[in-house]
Amino acid sequence: MADGTDQKSSNQMWGGRFASGPSAIMEEINASIGFDKKLYAQDIRGSMAHATMLASKGIISPEDKDKIINGLNTILSEIEAGTFEFSRKLEDIHMNIEARLATLIGTAAGRLHTARSRNDQVALDFRLWVKEELQKTEGMLTALIAAFLDRAEENADTVMPGFTHLQTAQPVTFGHHCMAYVEMFGRDRARVRHAIEHLDESPIGAAALAGTGYPIDRHMTAKALGFREPTRNSIDTVSDRDFALEFLSIASICATHLSRLAEEIVIWSTPQFGFIRLSDAFSTGSSIMPQKKNPDAAELVRAKTGRINGSLVALLTVMKGLPLAYSKDMQEDKEQVFDAAESLELAIAAMTGMIRDLEVRKERMRAAAGSGYSTATDLADWLVREAGLPFRDAHHVTGNAVALAEKKGCDLADLSLEELQAIHPGITKGVFDVLSVEASVASRTSFGGTAPSEVRKQIAWWRERN
Ligand code: ARG
Repeated sequence: MADGTDQKSSNQMWGGRFASGPSAIMEEINASIGFDKKLYAQDIRGSMAHATMLASKGIISPEDKDKIINGLNTILSEIEAGTFEFSRKLEDIHMNIEARLATLIGTAAGRLHTARSRNDQVALDFRLWVKEELQKTEGMLTALIAAFLDRAEENADTVMPGFTHLQTAQPVTFGHHCMAYVEMFGRDRARVRHAIEHLDESPIGAAALAGTGYPIDRHMTAKALGFREPTRNSIDTVSDRDFALEFLSIASICATHLSRLAEEIVIWSTPQFGFIRLSDAFSTGSSIMPQKKNPDAAELVRAKTGRINGSLVALLTVMKGLPLAYSKDMQEDKEQVFDAAESLELAIAAMTGMIRDLEVRKERMRAAAGSGYSTATDLADWLVREAGLPFRDAHHVTGNAVALAEKKGCDLADLSLEELQAIHPGITKGVFDVLSVEASVASRTSFGGTAPSEVRKQIAWWRERN
């Protein structure tokens, strides 16, 4: 057969000691080509660097190296043109490419696998893939942060209710709220950068697990493949997938941030809250209820988080009982990472679009900020500052004022001076300066606080770093 394997004949890559080929079920459970074909470009790059190094160390001839490189280039174009025939009998991307190379260039192809194993080969391909994905994620987070910085700048003075327990707590600005997400996504991006540093070591040359007796130059291949240096322990190199786990943990944390934001968008865009309007481009209608505008993109971002977290747990579970070094269990690493990467990319992109297009309904936010006695803390603070009350007493007096306002069905600022003085004689008309939501936010000038002046400082800090 063209690929050298069928039920009767053994595998051409490793079948020397086998009298017959694998059963259909063995083939099905063993094959990874269905998903690891995604690694073709990394596999070819790795093989080119390896062949070049083998030739420069005199391990293979320059002629064989040239044939290998030319053949690999042909294979690259075949795969990119969609004409390459992937075979499940050849298990995975590594053997599919090597078998095709043999058809194209003959015996020289058999020299490529000198001083190499699929164990270091797959570790290399996958690291290269995850590294590129992390770099892409870094750029996408930068775009998301930029969208938030624009919204924050436009809304540094936009007053909205701040919540704890989803109950009105104290007035904040929408700009401040946006900047909270900038901090979260900024930390996610820092984690991404850190992970890139962690995995920036080249696995190739670790071979099956013990290294090799051939006089290879691992620094040369590391450099050619854009890694900082080679890995330092061949057993670790082929047996760990912590770089994939790190990607998945970062993706899970980032997805969790995205999901909380998605939840807020869902809440804010209800007619009851009405804080924002989503653009038509990022919402959908209902097939039965003509009035509806649904935040489907936000809901799906929230749901993707479940998949991404699931992938992390799946791979942690695959890895937790494995003795060193390589076990085939590890082949299950890729689908989790591929699926999580695709989900995360979509989620960040959808969220960036939503934030960029968002219409902020300032009047609705302002009105909501003024209700729910959001300036009660300001009244208590005023009593401490101006009337000399201990905070606990001021808290109590303010509670009485809230109870009265509630009874009358009005806001704190609507109580008369006489009514307030009946609650505490130390209250003067100066108190009305702090009962407005604008005065409340403007007063919170502590570092990192919600005062517009403070928020603008934080926006400037981030602008310099984004
Ligand atoms: N397809 C395999 C994987 O993804 C490649 C490594 C196979 N190594 C081996 N010793 N069977 O893990």
